[in-house]
Amino acid sequence: MKLALGLAVCTLLAGAVVWAQADKTDFAEYQGWMKSNGATVADLTKNLTAKDGAAAHTDVRKLQENLAMVMAYWQSRNVSDGVRFALDATYGLAQVDALTSQGKFDDAAAALKTAQASCGNCHMAHRDKAADGSFRIKLK
Ligand code: HEC
Repeated sequence: MKLALGLAVCTLLAGAVVWAQADKTDFAEYQGWMKSNGATVADLTKNLTAKDGAAAHTDVRKLQENLAMVMAYWQSRNVSDGVRFALDATYGLAQVDALTSQGKFDDAAAALKTAQASCGNCHMAHRDKAADGSFRIKLK
């Protein structure tokens, strides 16, 4: 009986350690998508100003790839507003892409600002800044 209980506790503890590690990996991966988002939005802004449609299109695709991962992250945690912010940003970027392909670079730049508001909405709801300036994920 004691042995069984001991084993059960050990299993639980091992499970907790694995879970904590998995969560850390998740964060590093998540942060990778976000750092890429930041750099790619900056590049996209530059490419729209330069009226480089091909490069702008590549940036949009990269952002949408990142956002698909971000959306899945929130989906798997059943956080519906997180999913919606990621979707809104994705649709906004589709708008940027459509305007870019028509050569309407100024309108595309304006649409990008709108898409970025969806990034900002999620940051307000789910991003926390620690005292050292680093960011955290707020699930609730
Ligand atoms: C569904 C929610 C959500 C969406 C949508 C979202 N973000 Fe984030 N973002 C977060 C969270 C949570 C963090 C904090 C964790 C982190 O730093 O990665 C974050 C962090 C960041 C960071 C800081 C990364 C770091 O740690 O240095 C940048 C830059 C960023 N996001 C850019 C963007 C841009 C640009 C978009 C839109 C194209 C976007 N994000 C869309 C939730 C979101």
